[in-house]
Amino acid sequence: MQENPKLQELKQEYSKCEKCPELCKSRTQVVFGSGDESADALFIGEAAGATEDEKGIPFCGASGQILQELLQSIGFTRDEVFITNTVLCRPDKNRNPKTDEIKNCSERLNKTIEYMNPKVIVTIGNFATKAVLGPEAKAGITKIRGQIFEKTIQNKIVQIIPIIHPANLLYNGRNPKIFEQMKLDFKAIQKATNTNRKNPQASLIDF
Ligand code: URA
Repeated sequence: MQENPKLQELKQEYSKCEKCPELCKSRTQVVFGSGDESADALFIGEAAGATEDEKGIPFCGASGQILQELLQSIGFTRDEVFITNTVLCRPDKNRNPKTDEIKNCSERLNKTIEYMNPKVIVTIGNFATKAVLGPEAKAGITKIRGQIFEKTIQNKIVQIIPIIHPANLLYNGRNPKIFEQMKLDFKAIQKATNTNRKNPQASLIDF
């Protein structure tokens, strides 16, 4: 895992952020992100949940278990990618993040993308997909999941792959059909990262 000094500065800057009054009350800490700060793949979820808020690590609860399984299915560990959220702090009772909260956290998200300069961005669920893709996400996550979008960020083409949020799989009693779709979408992620990966051997797996 490599540290990225600019990202570390950003983490420091946001560690005491008070832009969202409600979130300041519901959080115990700001959950900035975890993993390889100079990874080729950046994963963006919705917002910290209760376990994430307690531990200070994104996706370390039930949804995180699923994310980890899916990463493993394409030969990745979570330490080989960077994981963050659209909104860093935990909303009360796991409510959806509000439009203002997403807006307040968007400069931080854009800077994270700029400083990491990843080759692939995986947006997890509707909120992250809308935050990154804007109007292109209008059709909704179930329609555009697994598709590859391209955006030029800092003169570099970045591939953006929206996926279904693991919480959705949990709400649906781990429906095998949804899980298979998610695995397929992770194959798309594997393909995108393999073509671009610094060390392609590391993620080769047999089918
Ligand atoms: N769900 C998210 O979107 N992010 C987390 O960090 C945990 C659960």
